[in-house]
Amino acid sequence: MNRLVDWRSDFYSLGASFYELLTGQLPFTTNDLMELVYCHLAKEPPQATTINTEIPIVISNIVAKLMAKNAEDRYQSALGLKHDLEQAYLIYKETGEFTNFELGKRDIPDRFTIPEKLYGRECEIKTLLTAFDRIAKPFTELNRSEMILVAGYSGVGKTAIINEIHRPIVQKKGYFIKGKYDQFQRNIPLSGFVQAFRDLMQQLLSEKDAQLHSWKNKILAELGEQSQVIIDVIPELEEILGKQ
Ligand SMILES: Nc1ncnc2c1ncn2[C@@H]1O[C@H](COP(=O)(O)OP(=O)(O)OP(=O)(O)O)[C@@H](O)[C@H]1O
Ligand SMILES: [Mg+2]
Repeated sequence: MNRLVDWRSDFYSLGASFYELLTGQLPFTTNDLMELVYCHLAKEPPQATTINTEIPIVISNIVAKLMAKNAEDRYQSALGLKHDLEQAYLIYKETGEFTNFELGKRDIPDRFTIPEKLYGRECEIKTLLTAFDRIAKPFTELNRSEMILVAGYSGVGKTAIINEIHRPIVQKKGYFIKGKYDQFQRNIPLSGFVQAFRDLMQQLLSEKDAQLHSWKNKILAELGEQSQVIIDVIPELEEILGKQ
């Protein structure tokens, strides 16, 4: 999701566990691995209370807050969560009802973190996404492929902006691959491409057998006699194609 995994992913997991405890089902039900990844990245699960109306809204809201997509919107501390759960219970004990109250009032982060959100790049991101939409349209000669170059000095945010299109690509069941021309690997020709395609092989290898088989045929048809040459630089390919 274009961000590091930190302690707040545990809040997400806890939210998913609560969700299953309360509703008897998982937040997302699909057997398609790619779709599942997409759901967790970008799709909101139905509110717990809409699945079972006996679940109090405030409890449903706590679960939703735990499972917020943006880590900044989740609880930031276990104490903040504990306070809200106790508060809900206290109100219930006193009034016999679960009344709504503002969540996260005592949720004070115990460490300093800089939000990982991108600022002021809406226009550039839109350019990338429009290009992606163009080439993702049904195949015609005109929209076969496109190339975009992103330039800028070190640390200006090139990688950060490119990573922003990860989510929409996964949504359309595409593959997002990347490689970097490292300043210390200048002697390896095409190292960026090699890295990117090794990444792609890893992704393909996690797919179902039928799909893998179809990839094997497509790649063999394309590479033919050259397969071994490519395997020499992308060893993972041998797992897909078999010994050449
Ligand atoms: N628009 C932005 N808003 C907030 N943070 C940003 C933004 N752009 C970049 N950053 C942050 O700045 C840091 C450097 O960005 P990034 O790694 O994308 O730079 P880069 O151009 O790829 O650098 P390099 O040339 O070294 O690869 C990252 O931590 C990134 O999250
Ligand atoms: Mg970079």
